[in-house]
This record gives sequence, C-alpha cells and structure tokens, in this order.
Amino acid sequence: MLILAFPDYLPQAKRLALALGAPLQKVDLHQFPDGESLLRLPVDLPKHIIICRSLNQPNDKLIELLLCAKTARQQGVQRITLVAPYLCYMRQDIANQPGEAVSQRIIGQMLAELFDDVITVDPHLHRISRLNQAIPIDNAISLSATDEIGLFLLQHFKHAVLLGPDSESVQWVVAIAKKTGFEYSIAEKVRQGDTQVSMCLAEFDFHNKPVVIIDDMASTGRTLAKATGLLLAAGAQRVYAVITHPLFCQDAEAHIMQAGVQQIWSTDSISHTSACIHLDKLLAQAIKEIL
Ligand code: R5P
Repeated sequence: MLILAFPDYLPQAKRLALALGAPLQKVDLHQFPDGESLLRLPVDLPKHIIICRSLNQPNDKLIELLLCAKTARQQGVQRITLVAPYLCYMRQDIANQPGEAVSQRIIGQMLAELFDDVITVDPHLHRISRLNQAIPIDNAISLSATDEIGLFLLQHFKHAVLLGPDSESVQWVVAIAKKTGFEYSIAEKVRQGDTQVSMCLAEFDFHNKPVVIIDDMASTGRTLAKATGLLLAAGAQRVYAVITHPLFCQDAEAHIMQAGVQQIWSTDSISHTSACIHLDKLLAQAIKEIL
C-alpha cells in the first residue's frame, strides 16, 4: 500500500502516512499557461494506492483526479482508495429548476467509477442519509470530526455554550455537546442568496458566557458573521467558531473577524491557518478497517 499525495494536501498526507506506517510519494503537477494540467505519477506503483486530496476548488481538482486514477490503473494498480476529507458537489441533490444538473449524482457516479473506496469527513448531505446513495460503491465512507472537535474544545474551555447556526448543524452540535457536556442552542437561518443570510437565535441565556459556533463549513463566512453579531448583541462574553471545512472564499475570513469573532479553529481537512484539529488518526482508523 502506498500513500499518493497531491501537493496541496501534502502535510496532512504525511501525517496520515505516519499514522498508518505507510510509505508516501508525491503526484507531480504542472499547470500549462492555458490552464491544462500535466500530471506525473511515480512508476512501479503497488497494487493498492491511497490518493489523498481534499476537493475544495473542485473543478480543476476533479480533472486531475481523473487523470491520476486512470494513469494508475494503466500501471496495473488494482485498488484505489480516495481520501478526500472535503468532498465537493454534495449539496446539489435535486434539480430545483427544470434543466438543472443534479451534480451530487453525476460527480458521485464519476467517483464511483474511478475509485474502489472513497473516504470523506462530514459531507454536506441534505436529503440522503448514506454516502453510498451519492457514490454508489460499498466503501463510500462518511466519517465525522465531532469527536476530534469535542476533544479540542475540552482542552480550551472548562465550559462554553455551543451554537448551531441552522437546523443542519444539529447533528454536529448534539454530538459535540455529548462529548463535552456543554449546553447548546440552535438558531434558525434562512439563506436568501450566496452572501445573504438572515438568522434568529432561539430563547437562551447567552449573557456573559463564552459561545462556540459549530458548523460544517465556512464558505462566504456570512453564516458565522451573522451568528456572531447576534450572539454579541445577546450579551455573549466572547464568540469563537469551530468548523470542519475551512473553505473561506474571497473576503470570508475578514468578514467574520469584523463581526467580532475572537478566534476561528478548523480541522485540517483543507490547508488553512485555522486548521489546528488534525484528522490523521480518524482517517487512519477508517483505512485500517477497510484493508
Ligand atoms: C449550510 O447549510 C452549511 O452548513 C453552512 O452553514 C454554510 O455552507 C456556510 O456557508 P457561508 O459561509 O457561505 O454562510
């Protein structure tokens, strides 16, 4: 077995290789001026390889994954496991308007054709409960970072209130509350557009308490910023945020900081300065279980 790492996920892949006691090699990438990718794999690949790459900024990365998996198969690789802690295109699971692509199914099918196993963390699934409904293979494995996040919070807080910014966050907030013993509250959010959200806090006494907002991702940062503003107005002592996937598009981080967040922490599912909660042990355990 060999870990094959893309450059943008190299530090995390090295930690994973260490946790598994497995060798690691790199995928060489070159981008031509016109945007096409040249990809080179090590030769003499073993029968089983584990390709590591998170799929934020997915459009280029998906093409490179296609090139990578097909090239490995041409070398005779028999089993290819994809470790993609952030999995792209999972939210569009129905056509909201006639003619719209149901990208979850299309990308899911593509991944199922390329890989024998797909391992991810807290994917953004709306109306389906199992990942193999989107990626139709037996080993479509969806892990959760909630234990890692809970342990991290216990190292930083004796007590805090957890805030879920919308109904989808309930699953992660409840799991982290169970791990930490912290109390929690869930807000109501309505998204009006890419950068517009409205939100309403539930009845809860936030006064003078540290509050940690929990969410699966920060994309435009509007969700975290809105929640922070409301919490500070409700008398919260300090507001922190922990997210699984630090996408942080365009001005997201600045926007959240301006709203008054004390600190943002995230997992290393994507490389980012906030990514201090490592997922290597969680991923290594899942890999051991499918070997
Ligand atoms: C929503 O369903 C998700 O759980 C996140 O709350 C959302 O994707 C965050 O997006 P943004 O940072 O753009 O508000």
